[in-house]
Amino acid sequence: MTDLIDLSFAALDIDALGSAEGGLALLVAETGKLGAGARRVNRLTKGAVARAVESAAFEKAKTGDVISLGFPAGLTAEAVQIVKLPAKASATEARQAGAKLAKARGDAALTLVAENHREAASVAQGLTLRTYAFNAHKTDKGTMPGPVTVVCSKPDDVQAAYAPMRAVAEGVAFTRDLTNAPANVLTTTEFANQLKALEGVGLKVEVLEEADLEALGMRTLLAVGMGSEMPSKVVVMHWEGGGDEAPFALVGKGVVFDTGGISIKPAAGMEDMTMDMGGAGVVAGVMKAIALRKARANVVGLVGLVENMPDGKAQRPGDVVTSMKGDTVEVINTDAEGRLVLADVLWYTQERFAPRAMINLATLTGAIIIGLGHENAGVFSNDDDLAEAFLKAAGTEDEGAWRMPMGPGYDKLLKSRVADMKNIGGRAAGSITAAQFLKRFVKDDVPWAHLDIAGVASIPSDTDYAPAGATGWGVRALDRLIADKFEG
Ligand code: BES
Ligand code: MN
Ligand code: ZN
Repeated sequence: MTDLIDLSFAALDIDALGSAEGGLALLVAETGKLGAGARRVNRLTKGAVARAVESAAFEKAKTGDVISLGFPAGLTAEAVQIVKLPAKASATEARQAGAKLAKARGDAALTLVAENHREAASVAQGLTLRTYAFNAHKTDKGTMPGPVTVVCSKPDDVQAAYAPMRAVAEGVAFTRDLTNAPANVLTTTEFANQLKALEGVGLKVEVLEEADLEALGMRTLLAVGMGSEMPSKVVVMHWEGGGDEAPFALVGKGVVFDTGGISIKPAAGMEDMTMDMGGAGVVAGVMKAIALRKARANVVGLVGLVENMPDGKAQRPGDVVTSMKGDTVEVINTDAEGRLVLADVLWYTQERFAPRAMINLATLTGAIIIGLGHENAGVFSNDDDLAEAFLKAAGTEDEGAWRMPMGPGYDKLLKSRVADMKNIGGRAAGSITAAQFLKRFVKDDVPWAHLDIAGVASIPSDTDYAPAGATGWGVRALDRLIADKFEG
C-alpha cells in the first residue's frame, strides 16, 4: 500500500521562517497583498518576494500556478514557491493549487505558509492527492518527498477540516494501487485478501467462494470465470455507521484481467485490461474512506471478482446462461463480460439488502471512451434525484461526469432469438445498450445509477490530481454523495 505524505499543521511562527529547511511555499492573492508570513520572507530576502509578485510572470500566472525562486539569499530554505491563490478561492481552486505545488516542490521538506487562508485544508488535500507514485514493482522505489508542515493562524481548525480529506485520500490511494496492479499480482484471490484486510479499519468483510455463488445461482458471473485458473469470488463489505435504515449500496466490476475470452481482443493494448477491475477498486476505496472517517451511514460495497480468459473450459459465443434473477442470456460476445458479472451482483445486492439506492461502477465499454474521452464518466440512471445528486457531488469534487440517455428504443436492441436477451446490442450506442442490459437486473423501485468509468479509471497522461495511470476517479464524488445524501 502506497503511503500518503507526512503532513502536519502548526501555528505560524514568523521568526522560524528564516531557518526553515527545504522549500518554503507562500500563498499570495492575485492582488499581490502579502500576509504576515510572506512579509517576513520578503524582508529576509530583501524584497525578492515583492519583486516576483510585481512581475509580469505573476500577473500572467493563472490561479493555482506556482512561481519558484531558487536558492534565495537570506533564507536557509533552498527555494521559495509563490502560489497564486485568491483569498476567496473555491475549494476546487485551492485543491488544484495544492496539486500543482506537489509537482513544483521537489523532494525536500516543505513549509507551506497558509496564513489564514480559508481553504488551507483543500490546498493540503491537493498536495496529498497529487503526491502519489506507483513504484511497487520497481527496484528503485523512488523517494517519498519530505514532510509538509502547514503553518497557519488556526492550525487546529485546519487540521480538523483536513482529517476527513485525509481519510478520503487514503481511499483514493488504495483504489489507485489496486487499479495499477498487474493481473499476475492482483489475482481474484489476492484482491479478496486485500479487501478482507479492510477489517483492520472497521469494515465487516465476507468472501463468497465459487460454491457459494453456485448455490446462489450466479451463473452469468460464474460463466465469465470458467476459462480462468483463478477462482471467481464476490466480496461483500459492510459499513454500519448509521441507524437501522436500509443501506446505500455500491457495486463494482472486478475483472482482474479481460482478454475478451473466446471473443479474444487484439494483442495491441491488451495490457491495459489489468485495469478492468477499476470499478471494484473504486468501491473498495470508498469503503475504506468512509470507515476511516467513521461516516454516519450504512453502506454496503459488493464486488464481483473474475478473470476473463480463453480456455477449453471457457464459455463460448452462443452459450445461453441463466442469471440469478432467472432471466436467460445468450452470450453473443464473451468480451461483453462485465455486464454478466454485474447482472448477478446487482440482483444479489437487491435481494439481500433492499438498498435505499444503488450505484454500480464499471470499466464497461470502449464506446464510452469514444463518446466522452478521458474527461467524463458516463452516468446512466433510472432516477433523476440520484443522478442529479451524484452529478453535483462529482462537480464539487472536480471529477468529470456526464449524464447519458436511456430508453426502451435502446432496450429493444438486446432482443434474442433463443433467450430472454443477448449480451450485446450491436455497434450503435454501445455504452447505452450495456446500461440497458444492467437495468434489466435492477428492480423498478430501486433508485440506481451506473457509472461507466472505462475512460476515467486509468488514463495515459497526468491529470490534475494523479500521475498517468490509475486516477482513483469517483472515490471523492461517492464519498461526498454519501456525506451529502445518506448521512445524518
Ligand atoms: N473491459 C472492456 C471495456 C473497456 C475498453 C474498458 C477499453 C477499458 C478500456 C469490456 O469488457 C469490453 O470488452 N467491452 C466491449 C463490449 C463489446 C464486445 C460489446 C467493448 O467495449 O468493445
Ligand atoms: Mn470485455
Ligand atoms: Zn471488461
